[in-house]
Amino acid sequence: MLETLNQILLAMHRGGWILLVIVFFAAYILLANDKHRGFSISQQIARFFYIVLIISGVYNLFYLASVAEIFPWNYAAKGIISIWVIYLMETILGKKNRGELAGSVRTYYWLQFIISLVVVVLIGFEVILAV
Ligand code: HEM
Repeated sequence: MLETLNQILLAMHRGGWILLVIVFFAAYILLANDKHRGFSISQQIARFFYIVLIISGVYNLFYLASVAEIFPWNYAAKGIISIWVIYLMETILGKKNRGELAGSVRTYYWLQFIISLVVVVLIGFEVILAV
């Protein structure tokens, strides 16, 4: 039962993260082109995926912790950095919407976003920090 739930949530996590990244970029591009209605819809979809990823990710982490011999600290670290990625997505869209994303502020947030997203994906696929 718990394993089946884990399989379902894992599938949602694996499909969800790429959809979130696509929807995030779509929202940003729509906003940059002054398509505010399309932006609002994409932002709501992105928020839906934040919830899906957090719930499925946390469940997977607890599941792995219960079956693995050693605690999956790599995924725990990934979870924390993932929350940072979500915070950055929300901040980038929010600041862009309020016209506050320009110059060094824009570079500051985009750089953090790209780096943390790459780190999360690399840990997710066990390219780095593999236990
Ligand atoms: C922006 C948010 C997130 C992104 C982009 C993301 C991305 C990924 C990726 C690419 C994988 C590898 C998937 C695969 O093997 O096909 C993964 C797996 C995983 N993620 Fe996330 N994730 C996010 C949020 C979270 C959160 C909030 C947690 C909470 C702890 C989490 C925990 C996990 C765990 C435990 C796995 C390993 C699943 C397994 O292979 O058993 N993730 N994630």
